[in-house]
Amino acid sequence: MFNIAIDGPAGAGKSTLSRMLADKLGFVYADTGALYRAVGLFAVRHGISPQDAAGVQKLLPSIQLELALSPEGQRVLLCGEDVSLAIRVPEISKAASQVSAIPAVRAFLLDLQKDMASERDIVMDGRDIGTVVLPHAQLKIFLTATPEDRARRRHAELMEKGVDIAYEQVLDEVRQRDAQDTERPIAPLRAADDAIIVDTTGYELEDSLKRLYAIAKEHRV
Ligand code: DC
Repeated sequence: MFNIAIDGPAGAGKSTLSRMLADKLGFVYADTGALYRAVGLFAVRHGISPQDAAGVQKLLPSIQLELALSPEGQRVLLCGEDVSLAIRVPEISKAASQVSAIPAVRAFLLDLQKDMASERDIVMDGRDIGTVVLPHAQLKIFLTATPEDRARRRHAELMEKGVDIAYEQVLDEVRQRDAQDTERPIAPLRAADDAIIVDTTGYELEDSLKRLYAIAKEHRV
């Protein structure tokens, strides 16, 4: 099995590029952030603060989670319900980041992620895929861009969806999430020692994809 791990901060184009790269290579794509989002959604729905580590931990045995992977994309099933859209709202982005700092949550999701990669050629994106989940991935990429560039892209995406929000607020949220994801004691966001750093600042999506595809080919994918 060929495993490609793609990590990096929110908004570097990780999920879009990972999905496009997987398509181009004929691999399946797994977005592991969706799993943390589903746990965050579950906590919020049960009236438990995503920062309440003990409370969230108690919920874990009742969570049944599945990433239904297919060439058409992935769907997130939470206790059988398709929550692929419900996990994309800003409240759940924040909740996901908060529950992802809880060690029991990370342990709960670890095997699920490892199992997905053991059965197929996969592009898996997240924050700790190259460092923790798939330390033996044949190719590791750390995709990054400046906070301003990432906020600009996210702002444009939101405006396109009809969400009226100021650029400064998006930039603020990007910075907050960066801080939460890099400063947490467990599995903080960082590049694996053997990861290739790809900075997408100022690049169009298609050009970044070309770079990733070229790197994959150099690695005999
Ligand atoms: O990639 P995303 O924005 O959907 O991720 C949501 C949150 O989940 C993010 O703030 C960090 C966390 N996350 C993580 O800790 N480890 C991963 N492998 C993927 C996501």
